[in-house]
Amino acid sequence: MATPHIACEPGDIAPLVIMPGDPKRAERIAKTRMDDVRLVSDVRGIAAWTGTVDGVPMTAMASGMGVPSLSIYATELFSQYGVRRICRVGTCGGISSKVAVRDVIVASSAHTNSSVATLDIPGVSLSLAASYDMLRAAVESARDAGRTVHVGAVFTSDFFYSSRTDVIPGLDRLGTLGVEMEAAGLYACALANDAEALAVLTVSDHLKDGSADLSADERETLFQGALEAAVAALKA
Ligand code: HPA
Repeated sequence: MATPHIACEPGDIAPLVIMPGDPKRAERIAKTRMDDVRLVSDVRGIAAWTGTVDGVPMTAMASGMGVPSLSIYATELFSQYGVRRICRVGTCGGISSKVAVRDVIVASSAHTNSSVATLDIPGVSLSLAASYDMLRAAVESARDAGRTVHVGAVFTSDFFYSSRTDVIPGLDRLGTLGVEMEAAGLYACALANDAEALAVLTVSDHLKDGSADLSADERETLFQGALEAAVAALKA
C-alpha cells in the first residue's frame, strides 16, 4: 500500500521518525548513525531509510522545505504508516538576543503565519506545541552533551525571503527564540493525528547580526549534537 508521496508498506516505516529538512542529511543519518539500514521509499528524491539506532527501530526521512512539504510527509506517516513520533532536526535563524549562533533551541511551541494554525477550527488559532516527554528528553540530552540549550517558542514562517521583516521586533518582544519554516506544521500534524512531535534546532545564523561563518566541519559537529538530542527524544 503506497501513499501518494511514500512508496512502501506500512511495516517498512518505523514508529519513530528522524526528520531533517534535507534529503542528503537523511541519507547521512542513515549511513552514519543507523544499523541494518535499508532504503524503503524514494519518491521525488525524498528517500526514507529504515534501520535501528542503538537497537531501536527508526526511520530517517526528510521533510523538504516549508510547512506544505512537511505536512504532506508527516500526515502520510502519522495516518497511514503507524508513526507515533517525529522529531525534526534542523536549523533556525536567531531572533532573541538571548540565543547565539551554535546554540540549540528546543521548540516548546511554534507561532506561525501559516494557515495550519487557523484552518482546522473556524475562529480558533490553535496552540501548536511539542510533546512534553520528547522535549524533556531532548533538553536533558543536549545539556548533558554540554550544549547551550534554550526552550521556548519559535516562529514558523511561510517565507524565507519575507518583505514583512517588521513582524520580527514584536515576536522578539514576546520572547520568540528563532525563525524557521516547519515546526508549526509538524506540531499541527501531530495534533491532528493524536501523535507526538518535537523540533530540535541549531541556530545557524542570527537576524540581529547576519550570517555566521560556520565551517563545514563545525556545521557537521553541531548537527551531530542536535541529532543525539533528537534520538533521545524519540526513544524517551
Ligand atoms: N529564516 C527561516 N528559516 C531559517 C532561517 C531564517 O533566517 N535560518 C535557518 N532557517
